[in-house]
Amino acid sequence: MSRRSRSTLDREPWWVSGVFYQVYIRSFADTNDDGIGDINGVIGHLDYLEWLGVTGIWLSPVTTSPDADWGYDVADYHAIHRDLGSMADLDLLIASANQRGARILLDLVPNHTSDQHQWFVDSRSSRTSPRRDWYVWADPKPDGSPPNNWVSSFGGPAWTLDPLTDQYYLHNHLAAQPDLNWWNEDVRQAFDEILCFWMDRGVSGFRIDVCNIIVKDAELRDNPPATVHDDWESRLFGQRPVYNANRPEVHDVIRRWRRLADARGDRCVLLGETPVDIGVLAEYYGDGTDELHLAFNFPFLSAPFDAETLRMIVEETGSRLPGNAQPAWTGSNHDMSRFSTRWADGDIRKSRAALLMLLCLRGTPVLYQGDEIGLCDVPVAHEDMRDPLGVAYWPAYAGRDAMRTPMPWKNEPGGGFTGPSVRPWLPLGGLESKTVEDQRKDPGSLLILARDLIGLRHITPDLRSGRYASLQAPHGIWSWRRGENTVVAVNFTDNAATLEGLEGEILIATDRARDGTSLSGSVAISPWEGLVARVGSLPE
Ligand code: GLC
Repeated sequence: MSRRSRSTLDREPWWVSGVFYQVYIRSFADTNDDGIGDINGVIGHLDYLEWLGVTGIWLSPVTTSPDADWGYDVADYHAIHRDLGSMADLDLLIASANQRGARILLDLVPNHTSDQHQWFVDSRSSRTSPRRDWYVWADPKPDGSPPNNWVSSFGGPAWTLDPLTDQYYLHNHLAAQPDLNWWNEDVRQAFDEILCFWMDRGVSGFRIDVCNIIVKDAELRDNPPATVHDDWESRLFGQRPVYNANRPEVHDVIRRWRRLADARGDRCVLLGETPVDIGVLAEYYGDGTDELHLAFNFPFLSAPFDAETLRMIVEETGSRLPGNAQPAWTGSNHDMSRFSTRWADGDIRKSRAALLMLLCLRGTPVLYQGDEIGLCDVPVAHEDMRDPLGVAYWPAYAGRDAMRTPMPWKNEPGGGFTGPSVRPWLPLGGLESKTVEDQRKDPGSLLILARDLIGLRHITPDLRSGRYASLQAPHGIWSWRRGENTVVAVNFTDNAATLEGLEGEILIATDRARDGTSLSGSVAISPWEGLVARVGSLPE
């Protein structure tokens, strides 16, 4: 709590004033030298996360899984994956994080289970199993083909024929990830119980995996074909996901979860994985008080690093979201190329500008482990690939391993991630220039910039929750005001430019030599530079 005042946290819900951080646990820190990160590794780095200023820690799945999709195929929602630790470890993590003013969010995977989950084992055992209807089963068409034309978001048909009972089951991802039937009240109740189980253990919320697709069309109607006007994904799959995603009834389930969360006061936050356009995204906030608290903004995450595009997405999001609903901004995650590669192409100036942008928008920033040190995607050789998508589609698509490689803590064998002679589950990268240890010693590093920006956000009401307003700026510069007295500007071009009409003081610039400089009228901004300044009140 060093640089945060208690009163700050009292004024706004913690998830509004907070800075979130995604821990991809298998690649965070390994304490038992098996090459896999674990819960104890997170506990061991809480000092670091507190120093960085993180207040919400989202853990990628920690529950039991055969790892067909690395934890996103859950075999038991109430037990900890043996590779990652024990329930006692998780309890200790929750308590230790809370003591440091940070809260733990778990990854909830409600759309599907593992095919090893006892529910599915029961369900597939016979057509008359009491759990048959917990999953989506349907007869083949007369010619033996799948019940409809739906395709899996991992490619191929979304249906697999189970020879035991001669019916198809639905899976919107791998065949080893059967979709639950969310029309079934017993499934809904089972998840109510799961949410309560974890909230009772002290977790402060959930990141909810593909929460927009859990309810499917009750009649299993065919999706219509894609047209040239559709997004790239629809065109890739040849169909628009009208009947297997974003069904109106999904909102009943989310409202149900919100009631459970709200019963815990302000503590519990629902952060949805919502890969949808902005208009649909807004619907997942309900009336602003009754559905998701926060929803990931995929148009932003997948946009090019371009001032005009990002500005328009941010402004459209602001105008579409209901009431005071809080956006969530992220530049990387375990599924998407890291922003230091995708946005910055390895150019440290661009990584610095991207970080400043993320931390100065109105909304909750969610950093992915490694963002704060400018970690880039790490190429993973075909024989080292672990992601089922890379394994299936290489060389056309190398999968998601490149964004899941271990954290480079120190420039030494094992990288401070694991023991010096241990082979990590994915190869280490970023040791040469990017380690946490090296950057902590360097006042000009990206890590110190990240920490200072987070600290500034915690002590500056304008940055925490002040409203956003776009300011006039030359082409390629995005400049905005936060609250009354704070201005942010980022130059997204290779050319120097001048901003007019700013009187005040630079608080933090990506060129740290400019911190504390006073501004009087014209302000030069270098290529790919970003700055945040305190200014006098600006006209409305
Ligand atoms: C989400 C997860 C991804 C996983 C998929 C299926 O998109 O982020 O990692 O593969 O859901 O559960």
